[in-house]
Amino acid sequence: MKIGVLKEIRHNEKRVAVTPKIAQDFIRKGFEIWLEKDAGLASSFDNASYEKSGAKIVEKAQIFEQVDVIVKINPLEDNEIEKLKKGQTVITLVYHKLYPETVQKIADKGVNLFSMDAIPRISRAQNMDVLSSQSNLAGYKAVILGADFMTKIFPLMMTAAGTITPAKVLIYGVGVAGLQAIATAKRLGAVVEATDVRPETKEQAESLGAKFISVETGQTEVSEGGYAKEQSAEFLQKQKEAVNKSLFDADLVITTALVQGAKAPVLIKEDQIKQMKRGAVIVDMAVEKGGNVELSRPDETVEKYGVKIIGKTNLPSTLATNASELYAKNLYNFITFMADKDHFKFDLEEEITRGTLLVKEGNILI
Ligand code: NAI
Repeated sequence: MKIGVLKEIRHNEKRVAVTPKIAQDFIRKGFEIWLEKDAGLASSFDNASYEKSGAKIVEKAQIFEQVDVIVKINPLEDNEIEKLKKGQTVITLVYHKLYPETVQKIADKGVNLFSMDAIPRISRAQNMDVLSSQSNLAGYKAVILGADFMTKIFPLMMTAAGTITPAKVLIYGVGVAGLQAIATAKRLGAVVEATDVRPETKEQAESLGAKFISVETGQTEVSEGGYAKEQSAEFLQKQKEAVNKSLFDADLVITTALVQGAKAPVLIKEDQIKQMKRGAVIVDMAVEKGGNVELSRPDETVEKYGVKIIGKTNLPSTLATNASELYAKNLYNFITFMADKDHFKFDLEEEITRGTLLVKEGNILI
């Protein structure tokens, strides 16, 4: 099978779906890799390094005309969908619940579509889980970005000129990104607190050295398929009461809270920001899904009441080399599980296939 790797066209996207190392791994398994010219440049992989791995460097049009499988990170855009040919297989992030019309347009071309963001959260699929691999890097970068906007250092420092007390970091949401943010802030020497709606995250946060702030509700906040549920207004009010003291004392706040299939919950409102310390920084990692912070705006830094609110989108792209390496490895594990060098298995009895195969020969399956 010929796998065609498209250059990303989303604004500010620096990642690439297949790296030279993974191109070589695919080729060793009997696949061909056709790479759109310069697709790897922004993540520091030049055309020559792909050619050395055995990949063919081609123009975009050749990919649409001649390959069997088209891979990319971001969903296909309309001007790409229109070039698809019947029988091709497309593998990208899709976010089908948010963009059902994209799925319909792709289905109309008579192709197969797998979604990399729909991989079930089961242990045997962990090595294909791009949401985890990218969130992990994003959690790291959120702390580094926050640190850059702070006017303080993280660690305790005793100097001849006096003692500097450690920074206080507060993390909302202890999923994959939140756990990496805790670990990163701890390594830099901060005092870290964290909160989540899923009770099992208490132990995970504490094992990384964070203090966990529990929200007492009298009922267990159970999660579905590993994801958090949308919380009631009463819960969100109780959460405010439990966390506000730490929020008003924090130097850096990182918000990562997401709810599957819904807008991100608003956890920090303007009246709370008003009471925060002057100079505090908030990094809203949920900004693309509506935001956890009332005042955050995508790709803007808003400053109000002396607090800087950073809404940078697509943090994994800012670490494009590592993010591409991990995405490519996830994709390799996915494709070599789903297919051999000649064809896909399309085994709908199998859980990962059932979760990710959105369109089969033009028929929408979800
Ligand atoms: P996510 O990105 O969907 O959400 C981030 C965090 O925000 C979650 O921990 C969630 O509980 C929390 N959250 C939601 N609403 C909140 C609120 N109102 N206040 C505070 N926190 C709130 O989560 P992610 O990182 O995608 O992980 C989801 C689940 O999947 C977790 O249980 C994780 O352990 C599990 N997982 C399993 C994997 C596997 O077995 N293959 C791989 C990766 C994750």
